Amino acid sequence: MLTSLDFWPHSGPRVTLAPFSEGDVDEAWAYRRLPEVTTWTGTWIASRDAWEGFARTRLVGQGLAVRAAGVLVGDAKLAVADGWGQGGSDPAAVARCEAEVGWTIDPRFAGRGLGTELGEELLRIAFVHAGVRRVTASAFADNAPSIRIMEKLGMRREALTVSASFHAARGWIDGVDYAILADEWRARSHSGSGDVSRETSRDA
Ligand SMILES: CC(C)(COP(=O)(O)OP(=O)(O)OC[C@H]1O[C@@H](n2cnc3c(N)ncnc32)[C@H](O)[C@@H]1OP(=O)(O)O)[C@@H](O)C(=O)NCCC(=O)NCCS
Repeated sequence: MLTSLDFWPHSGPRVTLAPFSEGDVDEAWAYRRLPEVTTWTGTWIASRDAWEGFARTRLVGQGLAVRAAGVLVGDAKLAVADGWGQGGSDPAAVARCEAEVGWTIDPRFAGRGLGTELGEELLRIAFVHAGVRRVTASAFADNAPSIRIMEKLGMRREALTVSASFHAARGWIDGVDYAILADEWRARSHSGSGDVSRETSRDA
């Protein structure tokens, strides 16, 4: 994630993203506890204790809180990491060149395009501000709304991972991996499928 406090908050047309803080833990439990959320997230949250443990180790200081009109409507992941390959020959080539994104929207606010807008802003932050060359996202293979967001963002399905994703209630089920390259994102944005007018230089 971008750690500079100067960077945040980041605002899209409706959503504002800022580092997930200790103060968000209780508020987010209102939607993170719901079965229609826990059944799709990559981490199984079975109790309030499990939520607090996950939130404090994986979200506070690492994740993002998502607000619309000042109300917490969800949370997000933007994890910058090294790329895969023979970085030993040129460590700079693979250093922090990829980002994995993820999203959760409170069901009370779902179906209004906020998840799609959140995804658009995550790609913008990753490509424009973090300067990565590739963004990835993954989901259980039957998570239709999340996959729809990936496809609306112009991400490419690169893998159907057969019986490779463990679900707490359903066992081993299929997953999908999506990705988009910076050049593809810029071409898509300049072609009118997105908006690059808010681009600035890398400032991660
Ligand atoms: C996935 C999630 C973020 C979507 O948020 P949202 O704010 O409702 O998203 P949007 O309103 O932008 O809608 C996304 C798209 O999914 C579509 N969609 C919704 N339900 C669908 C379904 N059952 N089947 C197919 N498409 C569906 C919407 O119609 C929309 O596409 P459209 O614009 O072409 O009509 C939200 O439902 C969520 O947090 N789910 C639980 C947690 C989760 O799944 N996180 C992702 C883990 S990978």
